Amino acid sequence: MDPHSAMKTPSHSDRPIGLALLGCGTVGSGLLDIVTGHSERLAASSGGEFQVIAIVVRCLDKERDPVVRTELLTTDASSLIDDPRVDIVVELMGGIEPARTLVMQALRAGKAVVTANKAIIARFGPEFQAAAEQSGGSLHYEAAAAGAIPVVKVVAEALRGNQINELMGIVNGTCNYILTEMTQSGAPLSQALSNAQRLGYAEADPSSDIGGEDAAYKLTLLARLAFGARVDIDAVHCEGIDSVSAEDISRAQSLGYVVKLLAVGRRQSKGLDVRVHPTLVPAEHPLAAVHGAFNAVYLQGDSSGPLMLYGQGAGRAATASAVAADVIDAARAIRSNGDTSGPISGFTETLPVLPIDDSLSRYYICLKVADEPGVLAAVANVFGEHQVSVASCLQEGQGATPVDLIFVTHTVRHGALMAALAEIGSLSTVVSVAATMRVLR
Ligand SMILES: NC(=O)c1ccc[n+]([C@@H]2O[C@H](COP(=O)([O-])OP(=O)(O)OC[C@H]3O[C@@H](n4cnc5c(N)ncnc54)[C@H](OP(=O)(O)O)[C@@H]3O)[C@@H](O)[C@H]2O)c1
Repeated sequence: MDPHSAMKTPSHSDRPIGLALLGCGTVGSGLLDIVTGHSERLAASSGGEFQVIAIVVRCLDKERDPVVRTELLTTDASSLIDDPRVDIVVELMGGIEPARTLVMQALRAGKAVVTANKAIIARFGPEFQAAAEQSGGSLHYEAAAAGAIPVVKVVAEALRGNQINELMGIVNGTCNYILTEMTQSGAPLSQALSNAQRLGYAEADPSSDIGGEDAAYKLTLLARLAFGARVDIDAVHCEGIDSVSAEDISRAQSLGYVVKLLAVGRRQSKGLDVRVHPTLVPAEHPLAAVHGAFNAVYLQGDSSGPLMLYGQGAGRAATASAVAADVIDAARAIRSNGDTSGPISGFTETLPVLPIDDSLSRYYICLKVADEPGVLAAVANVFGEHQVSVASCLQEGQGATPVDLIFVTHTVRHGALMAALAEIGSLSTVVSVAATMRVLR
């Protein structure tokens, strides 16, 4: 492959749209399945043919899926991006660098960029968008939010006539698989995680999934689109599922709830409430019925009312389907000289992200306490001093120490609850604050 071999290019109407693939692992191979296996359908929906100009990988000698034409492989991403035959750069490497630099290079060169990389969109999306607007390039990232689910298009386009007031997502399939397994079999988190790794639902290093970071990336880019506001990833409050126990899950079930890792964005009068955390979801809520590695996003528009999108959040074919849709969109725009700007169309709101202490929620709390008279009164007294109103309380176990005291609160400020729990944790009769989880509605 000589990336410089064609310095003069005919117009888009009489030549195929040139694709450069940066990365060809799980998703890249899935995209090639579609581009090579369904070329006629792709050409029909995008107004012409595609040609893969070259494929950037890290290691040229690695054994590849048969769909990968090895003569197209290169390690020289920068030259490929500058090749005038390349119209669309598809970034499927993952990670921050070199993906960030290469995406920026392509956008500055006025190319269309399609990416499935939530980390770079969450961190640098607004910079990329500005570069695209300056050069006439475009940025597309449907696959970065929830795999096959077309949530970016729905939020950015189909719901344009609405003010979106709330979005809630199960956007990490690994965590949802683990929580489902813990719910159904009573397995501890470590065992459910091992099963997820054995079945390919979790990475060897699952920290970004389990710790909630992956969901926070997706929430960041969805919240920008839904609320038209500048949401900085570092302002997104993030709690993972690492401290969720099978005991809490079973107790939540007996109270009528299912535990889910939710990514939540809410428009409040003074700003945006954006956070990721394990949540007790009422069993009758549509999100409670999302099991296994599936994803779902629940949206509330002022005119549309509630709607939920459901589907596969990851996987070779599922993710590639979203990438292919972006490639088609980009190609159609290039061929028609239409608007190629992609889903972010500028920030219209100046709503800040509110401090987490000001966020409002109901809470489930489990305290390990001494089984002595007066303990409940002492705890209730501290809650009262901090304006934490308790909706229900139950004690589990008797005679043994410690016993479990379970509270569900009414809606309370996060900061007030944390202050109360810090004080409660220091009471001599309280062994520990064993669990604190938000309760949806
Ligand atoms: N997998 C999913 O289900 C899924 C779902 C949603 C979104 N995504 C996103 O899609 C993107 C790709 O994921 P994936 O699962 O396909 O990853 P992957 O299987 O690990 O493939 C990554 C590809 O990028 C190449 N690459 C990585 N670093 C490189 C570098 N520095 N220089 C040149 N090539 C490099 C690798 O080359 P070699 O082949 O030579 O190693 C490989 O071909 C990521 O952003 C991911 O977050 C994935």
